[in-house]
Amino acid sequence: MLLHHNSFSPERPCPLGGAKGEAEVHLQTLYEKTADGVMTLAGHDVRDLLRQYGSPLIVVLEEVVRNNCRAYREAMERRYPRTRVYYASKAFLTVGFCRLIEQEGLGLDVVSEGELATALAAGFPPEMILMHGNAKTERDLTLALQHGVGRIVIDNLEEIERLARLTEQLDRRAKVLIRVTPGVKPHTHSYVQTGQVDSKFGFNLSGGAALEAARRVAAVERLELVGLHCHIGSQIFEMKPFAIAARTMMELYQRVRREHGAPLDELNLGGGLGIRYSPDDFPPSIDEHIAALTGAVTRAAEELEVDPPPVLLDEPGRSIVGRAGVTLYTVQSTKRIAGVRNYASVDGGMTDNPRYALYGSRHHMLAANRLDEPADTLWSISGRCCESGDMLIHDTTLPELAEGDIIAVLSAGAYTHSMASNYNRVARPAVVLVGPGRTGLLAARESAEDMMRLDRTPAWLER
Ligand code: LLP
Repeated sequence: MLLHHNSFSPERPCPLGGAKGEAEVHLQTLYEKTADGVMTLAGHDVRDLLRQYGSPLIVVLEEVVRNNCRAYREAMERRYPRTRVYYASKAFLTVGFCRLIEQEGLGLDVVSEGELATALAAGFPPEMILMHGNAKTERDLTLALQHGVGRIVIDNLEEIERLARLTEQLDRRAKVLIRVTPGVKPHTHSYVQTGQVDSKFGFNLSGGAALEAARRVAAVERLELVGLHCHIGSQIFEMKPFAIAARTMMELYQRVRREHGAPLDELNLGGGLGIRYSPDDFPPSIDEHIAALTGAVTRAAEELEVDPPPVLLDEPGRSIVGRAGVTLYTVQSTKRIAGVRNYASVDGGMTDNPRYALYGSRHHMLAANRLDEPADTLWSISGRCCESGDMLIHDTTLPELAEGDIIAVLSAGAYTHSMASNYNRVARPAVVLVGPGRTGLLAARESAEDMMRLDRTPAWLER
């Protein structure tokens, strides 16, 4: 059987943004190949990368990340008067990566003490950090206030009370946004829908909870209500739900300004643009996405006579780093069950990329050392953990595979390393940043010692 074996071949270069002809898409391919059909990433032969850094390995293409950051900033700045882009660090975060994001002029969205500490360790300017979370702890909020985090997005009533108390105790003030659930349900996996009425996040618009939250925040002297936030979901291809959410949020924005006299000046529409995981995915480009957002906000501002229009904030994660990542695995064994299935087992799996196990997300894969061979065999790529659910994909077409072959999983930059686990005490892979003529670690490979570092042995079990 021969299916789309050429879909991502160098002859038909795989466009970066996966879209149909927009600025950030042109002129680049995700990978090239050597004369003997082996994948190179930013000019580095994958065999050399694996020799140097070990397998499995997450490779992050620096240029792709930078281009995506610039595409966001340029599209926003070109189309709208006042904008800020925050990178949603949950997609992928290390200390070094914060430096890259800062260099590109983006802010950072953090959700936990760990994400905040990473940003601060990188010297990221606290005023460019925005803190989210539906269950921020006393400690999260205390740290955010003590370090002067630029924005806190309030998610629930308890948080308003807690912030009122903590700002008083710590003698601080805070600029806050209110997270609103606008009642929009985009077509995406239910686990990554967040804007629908039945959501754990934020204040619902229906029933007046969002307005009530605004009223309460406005009454706290040390909290400056600067804006509203919504996030409708992730891996979204349709632009309509974003436009509906933008219009809905603008109506609320105007109401809060009028009814509570709050000097709102910011509207955060929360990221969520989808990326290309399979050759059949055609997400809008960053520019198309931003055109839809800014168009909807501009129109609403005119119709509702919001003057000046709000500063527009966005929080992309996946569309910044997703396409920039390629995970390289080494095949350890194969098993062919006649008439049933072919398995190839690799040295990683759900521990470094749980996305297929969790969401059924099908990342495109290639045999990185056999790019010139026809992908004419159905393979299921299995991970190394002791459970049948540890699969990276079922039934994808690849060439004949054998021990030692290299599997490259594309679009693996977002929500892989950041969601990695140590199930079976499998070490998290290293992450290497690559550009033409240079490679450098963003994260070292974990060792068995690293995993035992927090183990303790109760005295009565000591040897
Ligand atoms: N802002 C907020 C408040 C969010 O909750 C998220 C993602 C983002 C921004 C960034 O969304 P993005 O641009 O990356 O779509 N683990 C899942 C994705 C979970 C997304 C959670 N929130 C996955 O692997 O698909």
